[in-house]
Amino acid sequence: MSRASRRAPTVEHVSKRGSRNGSGKQVGLRLRTRAGDFQLSEYVRAGSKPYFETDHGALFAGDCMKFLPQVQDEVVDTVFADPPFNLGKEYGEKSNDNLPDSEYVVWCKKWLDECVRVLKPGGALFVYNLPKWNVLLGAHLMERGMQFRHWIAVEISASLPITGRLHPSHYGLLYLTKGKPRKFYRIRTPILTCRHCGKEIKDYGGHRGALNPKGLTLKDVWSDIPPVRHAKFKSDTRKANALSTKLLDRVIEMTTDPCDVVLDPFGGSGTTFAVCEEKHRYWLGSELDFAAEIMQRLEDNDLHHHRNEDYVERT
Ligand SMILES: C[S@@+](CC[C@H](N)C(=O)[O-])C[C@H]1O[C@@H](n2cnc3c(N)ncnc32)[C@H](O)[C@@H]1O
Repeated sequence: MSRASRRAPTVEHVSKRGSRNGSGKQVGLRLRTRAGDFQLSEYVRAGSKPYFETDHGALFAGDCMKFLPQVQDEVVDTVFADPPFNLGKEYGEKSNDNLPDSEYVVWCKKWLDECVRVLKPGGALFVYNLPKWNVLLGAHLMERGMQFRHWIAVEISASLPITGRLHPSHYGLLYLTKGKPRKFYRIRTPILTCRHCGKEIKDYGGHRGALNPKGLTLKDVWSDIPPVRHAKFKSDTRKANALSTKLLDRVIEMTTDPCDVVLDPFGGSGTTFAVCEEKHRYWLGSELDFAAEIMQRLEDNDLHHHRNEDYVERT
């Protein structure tokens, strides 16, 4: 049993063996990270060429629908997907976040079907999106035989009220498994105390004495995920939104062990991969516009991880 790690990532960047292809893109780079023995050929089809590899994982530059079909059947333990939400946001030049609704849903179903295919039996799939989309995507996944586990509400603080509606204040994190879950580790969160006086905030209906001293069982409402705003947590070359490492800590600790494989088709700023490096998980991913920024993040190892006091029960 262990407190979830609070250390900053410790990617050692040593030897670089890169070459440039005709497009000027750097390919075939290998960053040395600590004590990993990741063998890409165990997970992707022969001839698949990543943008770069580390001792824990590999990133493919480009469309996830080109990358996913290269992944072998049933080799992944956990998929985490945080796609564009179709809100008209500007990510990079190649990304289109303004599709007609029906096209967006058809597109999501295509990459989701690939994600289901690559999952091992019992593997876990997390999809982070607006409730409006996750309702449809969750139904699709259940029709495909996935087992519903949770709709996790991740509270967001920065949203604005909308006239004629309730004030939206959460995103949905769907959690499903491919049949009976192969792994599920209970996470405990600290018993809440007052920031000023240090006293406990709740009396737990008179049952305080019965609480586990390691903390409270994690709920399906996460109100403690910080936004990524401060420069020390954020890539200075990729301004688009990034998730907190704390959210990925939970997903990864809850459903995997060291050397298990985590796949993220929408790498963004590389949060999932940075957490995998830190926690000694293997990883696979793709990113349409920011592969270079992800490589830089892992190489420089200079972005902070959010403080996380979760306790992970490994039995
Ligand atoms: C919401 S962001 C992911 C943020 C990421 N979770 C993080 O913490 O940094 C979505 C990302 O998907 C990328 N993207 C959009 N369409 C894509 C596609 N077809 N294939 C791969 N990546 C894509 C965008 O460039 C963007 O960086």
